[in-house]
Amino acid sequence: MATSTEAARLLLALREGELTLDGRLVEATNASFVGVARLLGDGFEVRCVYKPIAGERPLWDFPDGTLAHREVAAYLVSEAAGWDVVPPTAFREDGPLGPGMAQQWIEADAEMDLVEALRSGHPGLRRIALFDAVVNNTDRKGGHLLPLPDGRLLGVDHGVCFSVEPKLRTILWGWRGTPLEPPELAALARLRRALDGRLGDELRRHLDPAEGAATRLRVETLLAEGRFPQPSPDWPAVPWPPF
Ligand SMILES: Nc1ncnc2c1ncn2[C@@H]1O[C@H](COP(=O)(O)OP(=O)(O)O)[C@@H](O)[C@H]1O
Ligand SMILES: [Mg+2]
Repeated sequence: MATSTEAARLLLALREGELTLDGRLVEATNASFVGVARLLGDGFEVRCVYKPIAGERPLWDFPDGTLAHREVAAYLVSEAAGWDVVPPTAFREDGPLGPGMAQQWIEADAEMDLVEALRSGHPGLRRIALFDAVVNNTDRKGGHLLPLPDGRLLGVDHGVCFSVEPKLRTILWGWRGTPLEPPELAALARLRRALDGRLGDELRRHLDPAEGAATRLRVETLLAEGRFPQPSPDWPAVPWPPF
């Protein structure tokens, strides 16, 4: 990640910069746009995705108008754990189509073979698998994984996370039941502390209090069991289509 001042500037541009749209994500299920957010003071610019709440398609299993907030909450969890698996994401109180989220656009490495990464158990995927278990991601498809040229992997499209019901649906079951390693347990312990402090306060701005509490409980359970979760027999465990 960039230095903390750079990161702060980037988040400020996403949150409050002047947003100009120049395209639309054709593969998106919601009305999602791409554009540039620009700080008027010094002209700093960041290319970004903008998902206005007004463009969110209603879903049967998530309350209307909450997806943008869930995306921001997912970024906050990734940062607090030190995982760095979600591009910088901020909530905008306004934008060309009203309130919504803005997320840094990531130029993915088209050369990377995702199927091979899945087969070989790429450590970046393992990190995302643990992140998904914490945020209760109900839609981790291949298209929501972005490989970076430096070998890291990021995840996007976290609008359907943080349900209070267990709904983990992912293509990353390769580590199911596998013991967590010391750095993973340390990250979860860090997250638990953060949830009891500042992260907990931030999540209350973006999620229902019960959803924050359920996140705390998932972290607690992962720490107590010391293993990756197993798929639930009561829930379709793999997204369809998977990519
Ligand atoms: N921050 C990003 N950087 C680069 N590509 C992105 C980013 N966010 C989304 N995309 C690309 O756009 C596609 C559609 O976006 P997605 O977040 O899945 O939208 P929706 O919520 O409507 O399904 C993704 O599958 C991904 O390929
Ligand atoms: Mg999507």
